Amino acid sequence: MSVRIGIGSDHAGLEMKNHLKETLRSLGYEPVDFGPSDDCSVDYPDFGEKVSRAVSEGELERGILICGTGLGMSIVANKFPRVRATLCHDEYTSRMSRLHNDSNILVIGGRVTEVATAETILRTWLETPFEGGRHQRRLEKIEKLEERIRDVS
Ligand code: RB5
Repeated sequence: MSVRIGIGSDHAGLEMKNHLKETLRSLGYEPVDFGPSDDCSVDYPDFGEKVSRAVSEGELERGILICGTGLGMSIVANKFPRVRATLCHDEYTSRMSRLHNDSNILVIGGRVTEVATAETILRTWLETPFEGGRHQRRLEKIEKLEERIRDVS
C-alpha cells in the first residue's frame, strides 16, 4: 500500500499543488488532497489548518502546503503541536529540513519557485532521512517548549 501524503494550498498555490500531486503519484505516493479544488480566491489559514491538523493529530505522517510565498502557510502550520513545517526554496534547504529538523510538513511558495525546482525539493524531502543524534535533542527541546507554552495559555 502506498504512503498517503496530505496536500493543500490556496488559490496562489493551486497550480503547483496539482503539479506536485502528479509528482507524488509518479513516485509511488498517494496524495490526499485537502483542497481547494478550483482557483477561486480563498484564505490560506483555512487550508493550512486542514493539513496541519491531520499531521498534528497523527492522521497523516506528512503533509505539503503551498501558498504564494509559502510564508502564510508556514505561520499557520507551525501553530500546531508536533508540526515541524519548513519553507524550502531549493535542494539544500529541503535536504537540511529533513536531516536536521525532521520536517513533517513541506511548505513551498508557488509564486516564487520554478516547477522543476519544486519537484527537486519534493523528491529530496521524501527521500532524505532524519539524522537524529544532536538534532533529536534539539527537537525534544521544541516539544518541551510547546508544553510550556500550552501550560501558560
Ligand atoms: C495570496 O494572495 C497570498 O497572500 C498567499 O498566497 C500567501 O503568499 C501568503 O502568505
